[in-house]
Amino acid sequence: MRLLFLGDVVGRAGRQAVIEQLPALRARYKLDFVAINGENAAGGFGITEPILEGLLGAGADVVTLGNHAFDQREALVFIERHERLLRPINFPPGTPGKGAGFYKAANGADVLVINAMGLIYMPELGDPFRATESEVEACGLKRGADAIVVDFHAEATSEKQAMGYYLDGRVSCVVGTHTHAPTADERVLPRGTAFVCDIGMCGDYESVLGMDVGEPINRFLTKIPRGRFEPAMGPATISGLAVEIDDATGLARSTAALRLGGVLTPTEPLFWVE
Ligand SMILES: [Fe+2]
Ligand SMILES: [Fe+2]
Repeated sequence: MRLLFLGDVVGRAGRQAVIEQLPALRARYKLDFVAINGENAAGGFGITEPILEGLLGAGADVVTLGNHAFDQREALVFIERHERLLRPINFPPGTPGKGAGFYKAANGADVLVINAMGLIYMPELGDPFRATESEVEACGLKRGADAIVVDFHAEATSEKQAMGYYLDGRVSCVVGTHTHAPTADERVLPRGTAFVCDIGMCGDYESVLGMDVGEPINRFLTKIPRGRFEPAMGPATISGLAVEIDDATGLARSTAALRLGGVLTPTEPLFWVE
């Protein structure tokens, strides 16, 4: 099974790149399942229903969120009617929406997707390790799920690595999101889980985390807000992780970064290129 996970879509530049190019990427790589983190899709802050529908229409099977999940307040309402939109599972009980979902991939596989949020330099939520594990225990690999995909939305590389090794051999991949800068540590862990600390963002990298550089620099220099953060509007890089999953075990056979367009050095999963 071929899985592609794309990192945080930031603003219009990121949205346009994904919506224009995802259909061709699905065909080119014969993708079975596509997940996208959409927490910054609406002007950098949260997601709206039309934007969600645009990402799903372009070929996303599921859209995950993070600390910006409810920046657009309407998401508190529309998340309840969208099976394919997930927010972090360790929000307090009673939070609208859900943190895990079960989906059919193009090859017929049953895919469990879990979205969890780290605790270091992040809002105080429940324990992401135990919240994720209880889903995995309820519906493990080849005990209900053919593949299990975890989006761990966290700041600290230590917390992300700990989650990767905690779940190694029990899920298909643990994909880090949130920091918007891709890390170069993608690999298959010893027991068969694909892992990367951060898959990067889909957005304009001539920026600070996808935002025009002026206001971030001003705030570091003066500590006084002068304006709003505005998404950078230059050509976006599509950034994510490709995972080839063994159909028999649900574990990863190989993994590689995908980066296309914009200012980052391009790279693609060579094991999918014919
Ligand atoms: Fe983000
Ligand atoms: Fe985030």
